Amino acid sequence: MRKKNPDRLFVAGHRGMAGAAILRRFQGEGIELLHADRQQLDLCDPRQVDQYFAEHRPTGVIFAAAKVGGIFANEQFPVEFLSENVLMATHVINAAFRYSVRRLLFLGSTCIYPRDCEQPIQETSLLSGPLEETNEAYALAKIVGLKLCQAYRKQHGVQFHSVMPTNLYGPGDNYHQENSHVLPALIRRFHEAKVAGAASVTIWGTGKARREFLHVEDLADAVHFVFQLDNPPDWVNVGTGSDLSVLNLAQRIAEVVGYQGEIQIDPSRPEGTPVKCTEMSLLHQLGWKHKIEIEDGLRMTYESFLRERQSGSLREY
Ligand SMILES: NC(=O)c1ccc[n+]([C@@H]2O[C@H](COP(=O)([O-])OP(=O)(O)OC[C@H]3O[C@@H](n4cnc5c(N)ncnc54)[C@H](OP(=O)(O)O)[C@@H]3O)[C@@H](O)[C@H]2O)c1
Repeated sequence: MRKKNPDRLFVAGHRGMAGAAILRRFQGEGIELLHADRQQLDLCDPRQVDQYFAEHRPTGVIFAAAKVGGIFANEQFPVEFLSENVLMATHVINAAFRYSVRRLLFLGSTCIYPRDCEQPIQETSLLSGPLEETNEAYALAKIVGLKLCQAYRKQHGVQFHSVMPTNLYGPGDNYHQENSHVLPALIRRFHEAKVAGAASVTIWGTGKARREFLHVEDLADAVHFVFQLDNPPDWVNVGTGSDLSVLNLAQRIAEVVGYQGEIQIDPSRPEGTPVKCTEMSLLHQLGWKHKIEIEDGLRMTYESFLRERQSGSLREY
């Protein structure tokens, strides 16, 4: 059984990669979509959050805002990653309850599961072991948000719940030289190597590490689906359930980009955990499966990279 969506939906973090895709997914369904730029609404400020809920009275909330960054930023600024993410999540979730929001969906992440948890990662692995040290502050803050939703649901019976997306890619991704994730970083490097006529591109590590990627439009579709379930799980993985090696990813990207040179590996460079993939049976049983396979997703993403670059909107922070 599925219920209708709330009629006034606040998407927090609508300018981000995930938030923007979620906003697009809910458009054209007769729902009033609410959003605010950070200049209008700083989610770390409890008074601004309260005032926003008092004025706009959303009946549903999707929480896709976060202070997000790479390993370097996470290691340099654990205070900001922990405190800002806890503040944003607690202010929005508490305000949602105070203003009688019927339904709230919180975006967690598979990177908040324990560092050495069993593969593929099951939902039950949460809090079963030590976190990855490099993003511990971020993970702790996200776990607070997810657990606060669960606590509200348990204590007050409200539909506050979470999803756990795997690595995302697609339009609006971050192409920063040092701070971007592996997939956008490789798109940029192969594109630039093609333009420069470079003879080879070197990837970090052995290329054997295996990773899973989900197109952000699929994430938005999963959020749309889970948001309408009558009795959703407290949290559910959102991924494809299949992975590929970083070398295979690089070869596919080189092909999509049209790069003809060699691909070399540098095993002296770090490559992180050898395998990371989600166990997807829970969401599959509920009735959702991803639609965009990696071949099509990479082609679409390279097209959006070229468009964003041409229009000057390519994100590099
Ligand atoms: N990207 C991935 O691979 C991935 C994978 C799994 C889970 N997720 C989860 O998905 C969520 C969104 O990730 P994303 O990749 O879309 O991140 P993103 O592109 O960096 O977007 C985050 C958004 O949060 C907003 N924000 C941050 N601090 C704020 C504040 N104090 N007040 C108001 N808005 C604030 C940002 O606003 P500005 O635009 O003003 O900066 C931005 O729009 C996160 O919870 C993340 O953990 C992402």
